[in-house]
Amino acid sequence: MSETSIQIRGLKKSYRIGANDVEVLHDIDMDIKSGEFVSVMGQSGSGKTTLMNLIGMLDRPTGGSILIDGVDVTNRSQKELVEYRRKMVGFVFQQFHLIPSLTAYENVALPLVFAGEKEHDTINEALERVDLSHRLDHKPSELSGGEQQRVAIARALVMRPKILLADEPTGALDKETGEMIMSLLRSLRSEMTVVMITHNHDLAAMSDRIINLQDGKIKE
Ligand SMILES: Nc1ncnc2c1ncn2[C@@H]1O[C@H](COP(=O)(O)OP(=O)(O)OP(=O)(O)O)[C@@H](O)[C@H]1O
Ligand SMILES: [Mg+2]
Repeated sequence: MSETSIQIRGLKKSYRIGANDVEVLHDIDMDIKSGEFVSVMGQSGSGKTTLMNLIGMLDRPTGGSILIDGVDVTNRSQKELVEYRRKMVGFVFQQFHLIPSLTAYENVALPLVFAGEKEHDTINEALERVDLSHRLDHKPSELSGGEQQRVAIARALVMRPKILLADEPTGALDKETGEMIMSLLRSLRSEMTVVMITHNHDLAAMSDRIINLQDGKIKE
């Protein structure tokens, strides 16, 4: 039996809006296997980003648990969560979120710099992995959208995460470039668990499995 990398049990999330608590995720149960590549689909407002932020421990659930390799991470201290994120999770976003004044190389180096362990080889490996060894000294403004997203993926890979979370990574890209990014994410499968949000059925079909969210519930 293969190890289950992410186990979600009875997960709930409410947001305080004015005087009310509004529940946006209701009792989510989900198993994502180690090394699996899953897409999460669902209408705007269905709770996709909320779910991803909880898996990445950027936010805390209102109820339920998230087990990573069998260990519940939901009741950890703030300090432990920072460690968990740093060691275990890589994030990729629709708008790349690169630092404009830094080169591709420097952007990728950033997580290592924060961790106090800037390693030249690791940075170059990550950039090689996304096929950008020839663009090390380019600033984001000197790169295409697809190249910028590849830099962002290299930045996520540089800490060797076990889980890669991508929130609409192809949302700002044309079809062809989106497919290239998908192939790249797909190539990471088996090395790490990849969870991606997309609105595009064709791209979702390139993953191992599609999870549909509807109004904060999993649609079977
Ligand atoms: N910080 C917040 N405070 C209050 N409500 C929030 C907050 N974040 C999200 N919501 C609400 O939670 C619901 C789910 O939002 P979420 O961002 O998870 O949706 P989504 O599926 O990612 O949508 P989209 O496809 O538009 O990105 C929405 O109704 C949203 O308004
Ligand atoms: Mg979203």
